[in-house]
Amino acid sequence: MAKRERWASRIGVILAMAGNAIGLGNFLRFPVQAAQNGGGAFMIPYFVALLIFGIPLAWCEWAMGRLGGTNRHGSSPGVLGMLWKHPAAKYLGALGICLPLGVLIYYLYVESWTLSYSFFSVLWDFMGKTTMADMKSFLTDYQGVETKAGVTVMAYVFFLLTVGANYWIMSGGIAKGIERLARIGMPALLLLAVVLVARVFTLAPPDPAHPENSVVNGLGFVWNPDLASLRSAKVWLAAAGQVFFTLSVGFGSIQCYASYMRRRDDIVVTGLSSSVLNEFVEVILGASIAIPAAYVFFGHAGTVEIAKSGSFNLGFVAMPAIFQQMPGGAVFGLFWFFLLFIAGLTSSVALAQPAIAFLQDELGWSHKRSLRSVWIFLVLAGHVPILGLAAGALDEMDFWAGTIGLALFALIESIVFIWIFGAQRAWDEIHIGAEERIPRVFFYILKYVTPVALLAILIAWGWQQGADVISMKGVDPAQRAWRWAARALLLGMIATTCWLIRRAWSRKQEAGP
Ligand code: ALA
Repeated sequence: MAKRERWASRIGVILAMAGNAIGLGNFLRFPVQAAQNGGGAFMIPYFVALLIFGIPLAWCEWAMGRLGGTNRHGSSPGVLGMLWKHPAAKYLGALGICLPLGVLIYYLYVESWTLSYSFFSVLWDFMGKTTMADMKSFLTDYQGVETKAGVTVMAYVFFLLTVGANYWIMSGGIAKGIERLARIGMPALLLLAVVLVARVFTLAPPDPAHPENSVVNGLGFVWNPDLASLRSAKVWLAAAGQVFFTLSVGFGSIQCYASYMRRRDDIVVTGLSSSVLNEFVEVILGASIAIPAAYVFFGHAGTVEIAKSGSFNLGFVAMPAIFQQMPGGAVFGLFWFFLLFIAGLTSSVALAQPAIAFLQDELGWSHKRSLRSVWIFLVLAGHVPILGLAAGALDEMDFWAGTIGLALFALIESIVFIWIFGAQRAWDEIHIGAEERIPRVFFYILKYVTPVALLAILIAWGWQQGADVISMKGVDPAQRAWRWAARALLLGMIATTCWLIRRAWSRKQEAGP
């Protein structure tokens, strides 16, 4: 049996895990969520969610993955099957493959926009398009959402280039592909982010008649607390959702990366370091670029409009319009979009790895065959969010795979690891090889607070919105077909994965112990 791959170094694991977490969510999703949900007040539920869900669940995923790796299980079906000796356990693990893959199907398309916009910045293609309306039509023209084909040749070519870049990196495997990317990509990303923050912080109000459109007021827009928002359940949900998304908790990808560690490698300090690095990039750097820059050029009303119009508009509509009005805009435009591309790339390879690990570990396929199969699937499935973009197929997938699915899978993981495997065993497992001990209060948080709060969030959502969302209440009938196609794709993936799990386990039974 071929030797299982391992990370080459500890710093490589930290950077790869940080790369897994740091993504489009840090630079696009976070500042918009904060601005939309009460500014500084959003940070209260955000930090609560970080303490009761994010950091403790990340430790659990690291521990589950490292344990799974000792038995050559790098994906959730094998890991959950080890923790809970029940036939259903491995099928629950199907979510840990389908959720990251489901997110990846549309994430790759958005990532491809960052690559094309990097080129557009160099070629100065946006030249003269200084208003939001101009840039919006530039984006929709590029995407081809209003054409009969539903996509343009250019957008399609960049999608294929992005898919190819991911394939090329992953063909190097764990140490020579993913770890090498993280070692180069993470320092480059930090450098670009710091340069962009410095540029934004030195922007003077461009219009002397409006001195209030300043960076300080822009930061105030993100950070000034609107305490009334704390009473809203929606704000708490948004904060919890952002914590899951940004830390990549509930995806199965942390588990998968951790399975390539050694049994006695520390995960307490290593896990915390990568979570802290992600939070630094999100809270300090992510909040200091796009929104304050928008504030300087579009003022308060314009920034509210941008924040309300969606996360992607901030990156692809507001920022290019801003760069045109900024000295050295072409260079900073390139920095911004390339920063997003690196952030996207280090996360997209992590989203693909659980499916590849599953095919290799459980079905015994070669790395090459596993990689090719996953990539053929991604290109084919990618047509749903691409062609159904205008009908909201991408949003539909983001909602089910990237929001509800994450909370559900995190709940399953916490019940299986803490309640079925056993709280004390789980706690001891986390501490194997640990350089520091986790404060005991987290034991009780993990045992009681995390599952109860997750369950409460899911029940509250089901009660308040479940029926309306499932029945697509208020959705334009013309959009429903594509949205149903997105749901069918996700359900089809789960069914196929369960079938493959069944095949893999019966194959193992036939082969005997
Ligand atoms: N954690 C990744 C992001 O923030 C998925 O984009």
